[in-house]
Amino acid sequence: MAAGQGTRMKSAKPKVMHAVAGRPILGHVIAALKGAGVDRIVVVTAPDAEEVRAYAAREGAESVIQSEQLGTGHAAACAASVLGTFDGPLVVSYGDHPLFVPETFEASFKAREKTGMAIVAFRSQSKAYGRVIGGPDGMLDRIVEYKDARGAERDVDLCNAGVMTADAKRFFGWAAKLRNENAQKEYYLTDIPAFAKADGVACAVVETDDIGCRTGVNSREELAVAEAEMQKRLRAAAMANGVGMIAPETVWLSFDTVFEPDVQLEPNIFFGTGVTVRSGTVIKANSHIEGAEIGKGAIVGPFARLRPGAKLEEDVHIGNFVEVKNARVEKGAKANHLTYLGDARVGAGANIGAGTITCNYDGFDKHHTDIGAGAFIGSNSALVAPVKIGDGAYVGAGSTIAKPVEENALAVVRAEQKSVLGWAEKFRTRKKAEKAAKAKK
Ligand code: UD1
Ligand code: CA
Repeated sequence: MAAGQGTRMKSAKPKVMHAVAGRPILGHVIAALKGAGVDRIVVVTAPDAEEVRAYAAREGAESVIQSEQLGTGHAAACAASVLGTFDGPLVVSYGDHPLFVPETFEASFKAREKTGMAIVAFRSQSKAYGRVIGGPDGMLDRIVEYKDARGAERDVDLCNAGVMTADAKRFFGWAAKLRNENAQKEYYLTDIPAFAKADGVACAVVETDDIGCRTGVNSREELAVAEAEMQKRLRAAAMANGVGMIAPETVWLSFDTVFEPDVQLEPNIFFGTGVTVRSGTVIKANSHIEGAEIGKGAIVGPFARLRPGAKLEEDVHIGNFVEVKNARVEKGAKANHLTYLGDARVGAGANIGAGTITCNYDGFDKHHTDIGAGAFIGSNSALVAPVKIGDGAYVGAGSTIAKPVEENALAVVRAEQKSVLGWAEKFRTRKKAEKAAKAKK
């Protein structure tokens, strides 16, 4: 269910599209459901949430529209239009829990097999969650929203996680009977177990300490809490896979960051989405990396920026204040200081001097720079694309290169250097005399 307005986020963007570790909240929930073997996923969306429907489709899920946001029970009932005739188990999940794991759903499926229905519960004192009131038989008696709870019900610390599993046909039958006589004047999903009970179907309560249950996102602050938890999870997984981190709490990962073993990370590194890092690579402090592939044994940073389409082959060195975008840097090439490589190929073993800039943009189009294997680009050179530097060529420092440079040639574009002999001495003598004359006045 993802049709809620997410009012507490104070954002034009639908709540479930806010990212955690670079992936929308909804994407995490869909991934966890898929991981638990759910083969058909239907996302309940608000009428104007085209963005959510497009995203759901990309993730292999169907969607339905809830024309008015009348509550979680009403939202679930909307899925009847596509799932109402489905004969089998149905799991209803809130779309705003980015840390749900497959195991939580699996536990609920197992419990349903025995009793016919199951919900998942966890311990918390937070007022954000519905209270799970157990019957004497250990089965669920009812769920009471905190706002509707009275007296001792408010002291109950067993809370509703928002995962409910039941037979689909029966579930939609009960959902059709919901009423909205409560504090929020909403049709509550949480009232469904009472209908089930009246029909003789007991609802099991699966208690879990899974952190995913405790991290429902309703506000920016809760989004940040979920992010922090997700980061812990991703760092732990990376370290378990052989990634070394000096200060894990300062390394920011994306849900899809891929590491081979034996990568070493210094402090303060941000990984946006779409990054692969091969083994033996060292990434030094304060680097920002997204959409990049980093080959075996590379050295990146400190203060490096790799943008989408940066492909570094084996043993490449990218040093401080170097930005690489949509560029292939081939085996063993080096750009160690103060450089921009955009829309380019840098051949194997080439050396890019400090201050080299590929001038790839003319205000309208992007153009390509091709630097041959073993080329040497002198410091402070501007390579005006489209341009090609041949294999093994030299470019003299300070050159603006706008024409092709032949293989093994030297290209220098510079006004000729002149020396005026004795000039400095004469200059100083004159200046000193002027100063002395002023001081006398
Ligand atoms: C809900 C539960 C509460 C539980 C908590 C867990 C109800 C009544 N309460 O409260 O027991 O402890 O989640 O996080 O179910 N949605 C729709 N359409 C609607 C309303 C909501 O699709 O008309 C979706 C939202 O987008 C959201 C989910 O349902 O993804 C939950 O709605 P929300 O308003 O966040 O419910 P909570 O107050 O958190
Ligand atoms: Ca919620």
